[in-house]
Amino acid sequence: MSVAYALPTIDDELRPDLLNVLIVDDERAIREGCREVAESMGFTTLTAESAATAYKQLESRSIDIVLLDMKLPGSSGLEVLQEIKRRRGEAAVIMMTAYASVHTAVHSMKQGAYDYVTKPFNLEELRLLLGRAAGHVKLLAENKVLREKVKAHQSFGNIVGRSPEMEKLFRIITKVANSVHPVLILGESGTGKELVARSIHFSGPNRDKPFIPVDCGSLVPTLIESELFGYVKGAFTGAVRAKDGLLAIADGGTIFLDEIGELPIDLQSKLLRALQEKEIRPVGSTKRVAINVRILAATNRDLEVAVREGTFRKDLFFRLNVVNLRIPSLRERKQDIPLLVGHFLERMNRELGVERTISDDALKLMMSYDWPGNIRELENCMDRAGALTSGPHIHIGDLPTQLQNANRPVLVPVEGNGSHSSGVVPMAEMEKQAIFDTLRRVNGDKLMAAKLLGIGKTTLYRKLKEYGPEDWD
Ligand SMILES: Nc1ncnc2c1ncn2[C@@H]1O[C@H](COP(=O)(O)OP(=O)(O)OP(=O)(O)O)[C@@H](O)[C@H]1O
Ligand SMILES: [Mg+2]
Repeated sequence: MSVAYALPTIDDELRPDLLNVLIVDDERAIREGCREVAESMGFTTLTAESAATAYKQLESRSIDIVLLDMKLPGSSGLEVLQEIKRRRGEAAVIMMTAYASVHTAVHSMKQGAYDYVTKPFNLEELRLLLGRAAGHVKLLAENKVLREKVKAHQSFGNIVGRSPEMEKLFRIITKVANSVHPVLILGESGTGKELVARSIHFSGPNRDKPFIPVDCGSLVPTLIESELFGYVKGAFTGAVRAKDGLLAIADGGTIFLDEIGELPIDLQSKLLRALQEKEIRPVGSTKRVAINVRILAATNRDLEVAVREGTFRKDLFFRLNVVNLRIPSLRERKQDIPLLVGHFLERMNRELGVERTISDDALKLMMSYDWPGNIRELENCMDRAGALTSGPHIHIGDLPTQLQNANRPVLVPVEGNGSHSSGVVPMAEMEKQAIFDTLRRVNGDKLMAAKLLGIGKTTLYRKLKEYGPEDWD
């Protein structure tokens, strides 16, 4: 075992025999005395009469506690302490010192020693100290386990999917998480692009550094520029003080450029230069600032088409597309639907303190639907059904109309009074459904919905007013 105290679970008992104590002293009698006490407490011990032997022991075994003589021949206790901490930062080092050098011992605690004991010490004193040090080591180990748990949660813990497509995705995420290259994440709206970007960052080595998402689609161009690159005081009206750019703030971490396809062309050039030169120039400044950041970008647009059409720079596309990762749509992996439904049900039950289940018919209908809004649509559908249902079971009737209508055979407009009895849906109803469906897909973003539907914003507002106060979600 490489780390003796890396206990598998937090609830594990403290097992002294799993802890290694290294005793470093040039006086044999002290080494033997300490060894006796430590072994009587159940610890495994090693001894060293010099700094050089101590370093060798540190290489050979994972040491948890060190009893270190302050005065070893030929080396200063502080130097040895530093070397031990460098080789094994987690070890609890107890300095053993003569009364005269208590001052240095106190200083050594500032350098990372766990505690000190003055010679001559009695056995009970040593016993107490070793017991406390062991508790400290265990606490560190527990924190480590906890941190790992949090990490696992932040990595793919919350990406649900067991289909071969998703298994493949998990493998790629693991690989790219440990590299520094840009990754272009492709996928339809609602497939989980942001979730995947987060898991790439949080399963990588820089997980403790910032992860900063920037939505290039919803910010106005001037704002994206000043957000990304920062600005100096007076750069524009309202710039009352200087502000660092996100590319600089994310230092050592990740910037996630969401909806990169929406980035205006002049900003594309500036971003490209920043990535190539690893420097940015804040708005209004003449000085350049070095950046050290990983870029992840996402889009639901076909960037190759955008390149051909001249709306996206080819060189930037190549720069971002070093690795590309395509997230499958939900209709390509329908076998994941029950798992996802279960996941959202479980979350609902936990959050609301209820015990909801879903009827077989409702699940069947969900399996047959194509989910144009992908997981986000499924998530909204579950939330809505949970809110609508009157009992513990979610039935077909609790699902949105577009699902209930999905399997109806004929969808042609009829003239007249708009009766639905023939299974035929009138044009106005189809239009209303299309609008509500789109709004749901874009999470209520009316501007975006109008754009997707190919109608003006005012037309959309007018239509919504016509439909009355009915809630589309
Ligand atoms: N595999 C998954 N497992 C569980 N939840 C998921 C999964 N994929 C996506 N989600 C959830 O679906 C919602 C949409 O995901 P996300 O925002 O990452 O998608 P997106 O591709 O960025 O969408 P858009 O293009 O609309 O911005 C989020 O609430 C996310 O937590
Ligand atoms: Mg997104």
